[in-house]
Amino acid sequence: MLNKTKLIDEINNIDDVQEHILSPQLNTQQQCDYLHHLFSKFVNSEPTTKLLDVGCGYGRHALILSEFNYDITGVDLSESAISRAESKLEGRANPTFIVDNIASFKSDTLFDGAYAHNSVLCYVDSELAPTVLQNISDHLKPKGIFIFDYYYPINLLAQGDYLHDIEHASSFEGIDLSINIKNSIDTEVQQHTSDIHYLLKTQDQEKSFTLKDTLHYWEPEEMHEMLLNNGFSRVLLVDRETKQAISPTTKGILVLAEK
Ligand SMILES: C[S@@+](CC[C@H](N)C(=O)[O-])C[C@H]1O[C@@H](n2cnc3c(N)ncnc32)[C@H](O)[C@@H]1O
Repeated sequence: MLNKTKLIDEINNIDDVQEHILSPQLNTQQQCDYLHHLFSKFVNSEPTTKLLDVGCGYGRHALILSEFNYDITGVDLSESAISRAESKLEGRANPTFIVDNIASFKSDTLFDGAYAHNSVLCYVDSELAPTVLQNISDHLKPKGIFIFDYYYPINLLAQGDYLHDIEHASSFEGIDLSINIKNSIDTEVQQHTSDIHYLLKTQDQEKSFTLKDTLHYWEPEEMHEMLLNNGFSRVLLVDRETKQAISPTTKGILVLAEK
């Protein structure tokens, strides 16, 4: 049975809330299925395919994908995310997790492919993005594939659908969650910022925390050029949701880049 007191003590950030309460498990599975679909189509390496999970967080994709024929290395700047990822290994040798900055990460391994899910690149200092892309390319085998996505709020803004204030309330097995988000966007520096306040309540306990997320975004043409200038030879950008061409309703971009 779920121990609510223990769970509420363990919840420390948005990833925890998402995992336990907003439940994107299905979503994680869908993302992994899609990554698997793409990697098996574009990368053909025997006996195992080596993948680099860039900004792996607590390893939710690496842990699922390693059950396919992938040998995965997850890299993340956050020590707490990596120790949480490692705690889920339960003795398995694959995936492996490393605390490092992807801008300066060095490994002797050349990977068949790399992925960075959930806008990882947007969290990296925007001046460092070219260095990060070049470093990822340097760690790929010839024709290796890099797949990543990023939030693109500009169309929402253009259509008047960009939400400055979001209130969300939900309940999960006796834990009430309310989320209050204040979004802002600075089109000069291409940055979207969210101030997010979480309040979790059970009958006898309460926990709140506030996070500030700042995400850089790129125009599709800009991203295309940056990839071509930093180690990639072919680039395809599509709508993250529909997997079709980018359109005025695109809210997130999925990128496939070949070394
Ligand atoms: C939105 S989270 C996504 C985590 C994971 N990919 C997922 O989908 O669950 C962004 C992650 O990027 C990591 N990150 C940001 N900058 C980084 C850098 N320079 N090097 C390595 N990781 C970085 C953060 O620590 C965070 O775990």
